[in-house]
Order: sequence, then structure tokens, then C-alpha cells
Amino acid sequence: MYVIKLFLLLVIVTCYTRGNEAAKILGFSPMPAPSHNFLSKAVFKALAEAGHDVTVVTCFHEDNVPNGGKWREILLKDHYEKFTKHFGAMNFFEQGSKLSFHFLNLYKMVLQMTEQPLAHPEVQKLIKSGEKFDVVIVSQFMNEAHYMLAAHFDAHLVALSTIGSSSWNNYLVGNPSMPSVDREMILNHPKKMNFLQRLTNTLFTITGYLIRTFYLLPSHADLTKRYISEKIDFYNELHNVSLVLLNSHPSVSDPKPHVPSMIEIGGFHVGAPKPLPEDLKKLLNEAKHGVIFFSMGSNIKSKDLPAEKRNAILNAFSKRKETILWKFEDDSLPGKPKNVIIRKWFPQQDILAHPNVKVFWTHGGLLSTTETVYHGVPILATPIFGDQAMNAQRAKDNGYALVLPFTELTEERLNKMLDEIVSNTMYRENVKVRSKIMHDRQVPPLDEAVYWVEYIIRHHGAKHLRMWYTDMPWYQYYMVDVFLSIFSVIFVGLYTIKKLCSLCCGRSKKMTHKIKKH
Ligand SMILES: *[C@@H]1O[C@H](CO)[C@@H](O)[C@H](O)[C@H]1NC(C)=O
Repeated sequence: MYVIKLFLLLVIVTCYTRGNEAAKILGFSPMPAPSHNFLSKAVFKALAEAGHDVTVVTCFHEDNVPNGGKWREILLKDHYEKFTKHFGAMNFFEQGSKLSFHFLNLYKMVLQMTEQPLAHPEVQKLIKSGEKFDVVIVSQFMNEAHYMLAAHFDAHLVALSTIGSSSWNNYLVGNPSMPSVDREMILNHPKKMNFLQRLTNTLFTITGYLIRTFYLLPSHADLTKRYISEKIDFYNELHNVSLVLLNSHPSVSDPKPHVPSMIEIGGFHVGAPKPLPEDLKKLLNEAKHGVIFFSMGSNIKSKDLPAEKRNAILNAFSKRKETILWKFEDDSLPGKPKNVIIRKWFPQQDILAHPNVKVFWTHGGLLSTTETVYHGVPILATPIFGDQAMNAQRAKDNGYALVLPFTELTEERLNKMLDEIVSNTMYRENVKVRSKIMHDRQVPPLDEAVYWVEYIIRHHGAKHLRMWYTDMPWYQYYMVDVFLSIFSVIFVGLYTIKKLCSLCCGRSKKMTHKIKKH
């Protein structure tokens, strides 16, 4: 009897604490980039751990399956292999600057990267399975056709942005964004733009809008018809977004206005530090003059550095007292000084958490900058492509970084900048201030992400959070029609006054004329 009572109590307690029923969630993140994968998996795993039934479409196998909930993996292994065959050999030091400017190529690539996973037999099987989901979470990269999976599976749509609010998602939910204050990622303008910068920024924004409207979206609509379903009304579903999760936070990103369905969860991918492997722990503990950690992230390979730059770095390092940990992708590095330790991979977050790390020399990727703020380590940034220059500039503006452009990288400049960051405590103090801001939140960001996904399920897509004006024509939204009519009234008014005046004056002149004659 007692046992039965206890059992009933347990059942009641578990039901009660669960609150929500387990939801069926599809996490769609087929982008063959490790950083994308890393970010979206963190959210998908948290949802599984909260008890949900999660299916992920991904290029990367997950070893640490979450405990709790359900976890199903649809692995697009060959998609990744195809991609790396094509781009894996890419040397970012040579192509970095070209990449940013070949934008039509970039858009073609984006469309390919949207099409390939949709065409994949495993994904086609899922699409044709008749399965239903409660929520579809799509990791964003201008892959609008992927959003249509939500409509196909009768699910609420959640977009997960790996960078924050931008032209990729603002238009979906009607988030205010003005080219006078919102700078385009690629241009690397300062926060306060002068006239010329505002002009180029605006032209860039308009170009982006035109390319999206007249090239990308029609192509995505076509992909939707071909690979998902003929029945989906692409343009109607496009703004049917329940939630946008943003990888941004005022501690690392610019403060920005966000509509209620956009939630900032920046810092969510950083976990409590795990103990370091014994050998690394020993190195870090015993480095008398501290440690400099040098890593160019997961895409850029520092083994591809041109010889001249590599030698400059080696010479600079050989003159330093600190121990240097260098993420280097070859087995050996000829001419490597004694104080330099190379590895193909380092547990970056756990190293940054070690108090003996003095400087993090980074490419300025968003994940790296977020992690460095989380752990309070000042940085030297050498941006190579994409958003890195902007992240680096922002870190510099916030007083915890110096920027060493790749083209200006010499032995002298490198050592001078490293000396400055090591010896001037201002950098460390400033990054600690930022770190405190990042940690000061009501709930941890991953819990917040889970809360909001469950929230939109509870409220059937949370239509009450949506902006009503997402389909408003641009000239109405930007008040072009209103301003035009105000200006025309003023113009017509002034013109009439002028005409009347000249009429009066003319008459009075004639009068005086007549009077004189008499
Ligand atoms: C929008 O999405 C919801 C799910 O969040 C779905 O029930 C609804 O049918 C969609 N609306 C339109 C107009 O397609």
C-alpha cells in the first residue's frame, strides 16, 4: 500500500514539474561550418535536456548525446564531404579579402548550400514521411527555403541567428533597422558614421534589399516548390515566424532595438569550464610569465600563413618570455621556439578560463570574442574575413582589444602590441567590466532559449508578439508618401505666396509708374 502511494506521489510530482508536455522539435542546421553547428547544437541539446523529443538535421555527428528527452540525428555526412572537398582546401589568407567582395558568387554559394541539404535523400525521406512537428528551428544563413519546412510539418517556426539581428532576419519580423545607424557587417564602418559612410551604407542596404527581393527570394520560392511542397505559399509563410533567437548581447554586440519576438541569448554556447587535461594544466600553471593563446578559429588554418608572415610571428614569439599556445594544424613547425607549444586543437573555452592567460590572439570570430568576454581575457585581433573586422573594431572600441590588420603584421608591430596588452592593465579591467555585464542576467541564456520555445508552443505560435506591418510597402513604412505630400503642400504653398507677391508687387509698381507719369 505504502509503495503504491509513494509511486502515485512520484508520478504526480514528475507530471507537475514537467508542466509542459514533451514537444516534437526539428532542429534544422545543415550548414557545413563547425561554428554554426556548435551554436545550434547547444540550443537543440538544451531542448532535449528539458525533456523534448528532438530531431536534428546536421553535418556533424554528436558524441555527447544529451541526457533526457529524445535525440534523433539525421546525419548529412556526404553533404559535408562534398563541401569540404570544394572549400576545405581554401586558403583564407589568400581569399579572405576576395571573399567579401565577390558577392554574387557568395549568393550563388548560399543557394547551393540551401539546395543540397533539401535534395539529400535522408531529408527527402523526412519530408515525405508525413511526420509532424510542433516546432521547427532553422539555423539562418540566407536559407529562406528551409523556413518552409515549418509550414510543411505544421509547426511553429523559430529562426536561430548565429550573428544577431541583421538584414537576414530584421525584415522577417519587422524589426526596425535604419541604414543611418545600422551598419552593414561587411563595410566595417564605425558606430557613428559620417555622411559618406551613411551614404555607402545606405547604398549597400538598398543593394542587399534588391538582391534579396529580385534574386534570392524567387530562387528560394522555386526551391520550396521543387523540394518541399507545391502547396506552400512561400511569400505568405515567410513572415510567419514565431521566434528569432539571436546570438548577441549588449556585453559583446551593439545595443539595438528588438521586436518582442526577438530574444538575445548571446553567450549561451559558453559553458562552465571543464577541468583541463593534465599536460595542459601543468603548462598553464607553471608558465612563470603567463600564457599567450593564439588561435585563428575553426575555418582559418594558420598552417596556410604565407612564409613571410609565419617567420615574422616565429621571430616575435622567440623573443617573448611568455609560454605561447598556438593552434597550428600541422604536426611540426620548423623553427619553432622553445616557448611555443603547437596543437591541432585546444579546448579553447577551458584555456580562456585559466587565470594565467594574459592575451588571446584571435581572428575575431564572434564565438571567440564572446568566449573571451565571458572569461574576461583581453585580445589582440587580426581579422581575416566576414564579420571579424567588425567584431574586432567593436572590441577595440570597448577598450579590451588592439587590432593588428593582417597586412600590417610584422615582428615589431606584433611584439609592440602584445607588450602593450600585457603591461597595460586597462585592457584586462575593461574586459572584466564587459564580462560582468554578460554574467548579470536573470536566467542563464540557454534556459531563456528553452523558455521561449516552450512559450510559443503554449501560446500557439505567439501571434500576439508579431508586428502587424511586415507586409507594409516600403514607401509607406519609411514615410516616403507622407513626406512627399507634406513637401508638396509646402512647395505649392510657397509657390502660391511667391506668385501672389509678385502679382501684388507688379501691380503696385505699375501704380507708382502711373502716378509718376501724371
Ligand atoms: C503560420 O504558422 C502557424 C504555426 O505557427 C500555422 O498554424 C499557420 O497556419 C501559419 N499561417 C499561415 C498564414 O500560413
